[in-house]
Amino acid sequence: MEYFNYIDSDLYCEDVCLATLAKKFGTPLYVYSRSAFESFLGHLNEPFSKHKHLLCYSVKSASNISLLNIVAGLGLGADVVSGGELYRALRASIDPQKIVYSGVGKKASEMAEALDASILMFNVESKEELELLSRVARDKGLVAPVALRVNPDVDPKTHPYVATGLKESKFGIPIEEAPELYQLMGRLSHLKPVGLDCHIGSQLVSTSPFMAAVERLKKLLSTLRTLGIELQYLDLGGGLGIRYNEEIPPTPAQYAQAILEALGEEGDLTIILEPGRSAIGNAAVLLVEVLYNKTTPSNHFVVIDGAMNDLIRPSLYGSYHQIVPLYDFSRPTHKVSLVGPICESGDFLAKDRLLPQTLPGEFLAVKSAGAYGFSMSSNYNSRGRAAEVLVERDSYKLIRERETYSDLIRGEYSN
Ligand code: LLP
Repeated sequence: MEYFNYIDSDLYCEDVCLATLAKKFGTPLYVYSRSAFESFLGHLNEPFSKHKHLLCYSVKSASNISLLNIVAGLGLGADVVSGGELYRALRASIDPQKIVYSGVGKKASEMAEALDASILMFNVESKEELELLSRVARDKGLVAPVALRVNPDVDPKTHPYVATGLKESKFGIPIEEAPELYQLMGRLSHLKPVGLDCHIGSQLVSTSPFMAAVERLKKLLSTLRTLGIELQYLDLGGGLGIRYNEEIPPTPAQYAQAILEALGEEGDLTIILEPGRSAIGNAAVLLVEVLYNKTTPSNHFVVIDGAMNDLIRPSLYGSYHQIVPLYDFSRPTHKVSLVGPICESGDFLAKDRLLPQTLPGEFLAVKSAGAYGFSMSSNYNSRGRAAEVLVERDSYKLIRERETYSDLIRGEYSN
């Protein structure tokens, strides 16, 4: 089902005309479809329904509290990677017993906050982190539930910046060192080994790297068993890709089938999944306004009011986002580069793209902008961050105000 469709030549999100939202709230504007988000989460959850499992939405992908409220309302959990994300998840009423805390650089204060909240488990990434967590838990008289995040050394065949399961990456514990650390945990009385975790990368468009990772984790689980270590949770991270352009990623059902097949008799463990992009990526668009058409001897630029501070993915990873006009006009197309107002040549949302001619004041939609869109946005060039709107059927609500000039200097002191 498509949640962004043309109706009588106007692009709609569910039953709301996007041009109406652009005029009412201004641009750049993130617009999320509630039905799309709920349905993508449902599609990810459903194929695992015959197995003990828990879906922990990856908060970093899009972390607006209204979106997290939806996650909480569906009874799902959260994957957090900072004290700030934990704060958001708790504020959104996500059950702490459904929160996993991942990340390679947790601070003692963040560990303390998560222990106070009584989260489900810490995904620990090094021996030093394990020792620090043990000290923090001891000082509180608590026991920290732990999964070790191992690095299975699997090539996820994705952009190098988002590949995390290769042995040269900073993430996880080399899989061969894991048994020793689980044994160490047994000796540290304030840690309790409860799970095993991995996350091999993001935007994976094939099931085979997931299956290869599961195979390696299975071997480790059987080694641990011979050492008398029995675990409850197997966290396989996130990573399922979405279609931005011509990719054909596995469907959630194919993804689940591949994982369950690879798991085989290990089916007794509760499977945890941490989807981000596959849940929210195609549930939102970024609306921008055309400011100028600018032709130079070598290029035709369409200057828009959205920039790399609003959506950094094209600049940072060379990512492709489909861009469409809000009116389905059949003007002649021409090859353009869509660039923003920021003072860097790397500030573009698309290069050499065939688009119908657009005039100043007209709007465009940057598609597949839900994941790592707003959440990676910044104030570079002292640009306030965009507003966010949530659509449900024929109604909509502002879920984040556009930042103002005074927001920009909040917390700063003048001499
Ligand atoms: N779990 C962990 C431990 C992660 O590090 C990530 C993403 C996820 C789950 C969610 O992965 P997903 O299902 O979204 O693939 N900014 C990049 C993506 C960075 C992904 C970071 N980790 C981008 O815009 O492509």
